[in-house]
Amino acid sequence: MEKCYPTISEDYQKAVEKCKKKLKGFIAEKHCAPLMLRLAWHSTGTYDLKTKIGGPFGTMKHQAELAHEANIGLDIAVRRLEPIKVQFPILSYANLYQLAGIVAVEVTGGPEIPFHPERPFSFYINLAKIK
Ligand code: HEM
Repeated sequence: MEKCYPTISEDYQKAVEKCKKKLKGFIAEKHCAPLMLRLAWHSTGTYDLKTKIGGPFGTMKHQAELAHEANIGLDIAVRRLEPIKVQFPILSYANLYQLAGIVAVEVTGGPEIPFHPERPFSFYINLAKIK
């Protein structure tokens, strides 16, 4: 089945590019690529294949999720990204956390990873069906 991603507005795309640049500088300067990658990864960790709920929806900023033993230390990542979130209100927390993970890979010499923001909940349900 061919992958199908949502079309995003020009404004959103521009904000993503600007934010990416900002994240690149910030992550390189603060040497926090591992932390940001872990944030992106753990943000996806709520996905449950059986019930098909959860996923990277930006919920990591909530105390209840941060308090999970597996997420210890991620409050630092959430706090550090907050000033960037304020500068890019158009980006959701979900997208910002994943974008930070992508940038973390790039900053540390990894490949450029395509970013597909604004995937609705149903995307994850369909993804689970494909698997
Ligand atoms: C089920 C599999 C995994 C387990 C059990 C696991 C467990 C852990 C643990 C215990 C730490 C140390 C946390 C600390 O005390 O600072 C850690 C760190 C880390 N994990 Fe995982 N991990 C898993 C999968 C992954 C995957 C798939 C990624 C990448 C996508 C990842 C990325 C990282 C990174 C980058 C750190 C370092 C964070 C830092 O230094 O700030 N982990 N992981």
